[in-house]
Amino acid sequence: MNIFVTRKIPQIGLDMLSRKGYKVDMGDFKVPPTKKDLVKYINKSAKKGIKYDALLTLLTDPVDGELLDIIGPQLKIVSNYAVGYNNINCEDAKKRGVVITNTPGGFSDCIAEHTVAMILGLTTRLSEADRFVRAGKYKGWDPMILIGTDISKKTIGILGAGKIGERVAMHLGKGFGMDVIYYDVKRNEVLENDYGAVYYDTPEQVIQKADFVSLHVPLLPSTTHLMNSERFAMMKQGAYLINTARGPVVEEKALVEALKSKKIAGAGLDVFEFEPKVSKELMKMDNVILTPHIASARESARNEMATLAAQNIIDTFEGRVAVGCVNV
Ligand code: DGY
Repeated sequence: MNIFVTRKIPQIGLDMLSRKGYKVDMGDFKVPPTKKDLVKYINKSAKKGIKYDALLTLLTDPVDGELLDIIGPQLKIVSNYAVGYNNINCEDAKKRGVVITNTPGGFSDCIAEHTVAMILGLTTRLSEADRFVRAGKYKGWDPMILIGTDISKKTIGILGAGKIGERVAMHLGKGFGMDVIYYDVKRNEVLENDYGAVYYDTPEQVIQKADFVSLHVPLLPSTTHLMNSERFAMMKQGAYLINTARGPVVEEKALVEALKSKKIAGAGLDVFEFEPKVSKELMKMDNVILTPHIASARESARNEMATLAAQNIIDTFEGRVAVGCVNV
């Protein structure tokens, strides 16, 4: 079996594949490859007689029917090294009998913790304070500088109540005494029974009531621009937005307007609408925390993702339904 791993992932996953006797080729792209780059690599391999049975992709690799056809009918699986798989056209894959898998579960806590870090960072004005000190502006204790905001007894509104939303509810509800409200297309008993979260049956109700809105939905046509100018207008005056999900869930232009007009007090963003491009306006704002899509960047999480991505391939090759299978 031949496997094309598009970019370097932790060795633990690669070793699992090699131990099975599979041949693993790894792309040496320094930045996310375009479809053209992937096609070039695949065609070069084909010239050497290598046809791929599996593709192990990252969340930035565009996979559609055209690419699948170029790889050929022997392709059995595209194993995405991410929980989100909006980079893959699942319908195209299904039509061609190609299994698509993701890596759910393992790193929900890292992403939830990153969400908490963003909320605490914004409300304690942590990065702003750090910049203040480094700029030599600290001239002695002053009771009036860098006043923050409390979070205890405030309301966290979670949009998207999968595993990550669940952990956010746990950390902020149990740990920080916040009231938790949420919306999802389906109710989550763990959130309600274990963390006392209150369910609302529209996202608007959550957006209107929350002091902090945190996004944990997958990127789908129905969630693209979930946060648009209408929904920003519905937010509480002085509320905060956190996005650790996918950039296009937020209409960035509308977010910039909501921040400029002081409708909202701040935002924490780990993902961007036009990633890796970041809006110049957002970069100038002190009440915004920007991180480069690193919410799951922990050794433990990365290793777990590599293990799961490899296991998904092994299971598929050995005729089992892979645990991360998303399109059958
Ligand atoms: C994912 O796996 O989808 C995350 O965005 C990685 O941080």
